[in-house]
This record gives sequence, C-alpha cells and structure tokens, in this order.
Amino acid sequence: MQQQEIVAQLQYFYSLERQQADMYTSQGRQQADRYLAEVFRAFADVEQLHAERVATLLRQISGSATVVGGTLGQLTGRATGWTSAMTGLANLLRLDIALERKAMSDYQHFLLRAGDPPHLAVLWTNLVEEDLHAAWMERKLARLPHGRERK
Ligand SMILES: [Fe+2]
Ligand SMILES: [Fe+2]
Repeated sequence: MQQQEIVAQLQYFYSLERQQADMYTSQGRQQADRYLAEVFRAFADVEQLHAERVATLLRQISGSATVVGGTLGQLTGRATGWTSAMTGLANLLRLDIALERKAMSDYQHFLLRAGDPPHLAVLWTNLVEEDLHAAWMERKLARLPHGRERK
C-alpha cells in the first residue's frame, strides 16, 4: 500500500474517531439515567483517545494530523438527532452498534490490506475497544423490554 493511501486512510480514521467522541458526548448529556450517562461519557473518552492515537501516527508518518470530512458524518449526525428526538434507547443502541461494527470492519480491512505493519499495531487496540463498546451495548440492548425485537 502506497504511503499516500495510508495517510488518507489514517485521516479518515482520525475524522471517524473525533465524530464518535462528539456523538457519545452528546448522547451522554441527553441520558436521564445516571449510569447510562456515565457509560456514554466513558465511551467518548475512549474515542478521544482513539483519535489521539491516530493523530500520533499521522504526525509520525506525514508530519500533521488533518481533519477531513468523514463519510460517517451523516450517520453520526443521525445518531445524535435520534437521541434528541427521544425515539428510544433501543434504536439508539442499534445505530451505535452498527457504527462500532463499521469502524471495526474498516480497521480490520485497512490493517490487513496494509500488510499488518508493526508501526500501525496500535490500531488493533482501537479495533478491540470498539468491540468492547459494541459488546456492552449489545448486552444492554438484549436486556431492554423490546431489545430482542428486530435485532
Ligand atoms: Fe474508536
Ligand atoms: Fe467505539
């Protein structure tokens, strides 16, 4: 994989992680349930750490971390909007889980296409932590009264 493509992919992940951080911050602020608010706030902290890890890689490889318009902008915007519209926790979790799975899939494909180089290994940590987010939300969803429907 060309250096230029690696930089472009890292810029995409940087943008994605920043958006995830903003999204969970917003979702956390809108939760009436205290514990749920803390979970989303903790998720936002982890997403911010993910963005910082990617920014460090970008600085090492290209000398700067540029924010680019991410393709997930519309989706994460919707996730935030759904919370304010109070359409229900189950639907919010379904969308969040879908976004986490998309991030995992994008990281995995990128790492394997790039030949899994050691200097990008920290991205596996991001991927695993997305898996933990998804797993927590899947458990929460399964325990909601209507969580098992339309899964
Ligand atoms: Fe992340
Ligand atoms: Fe995540």
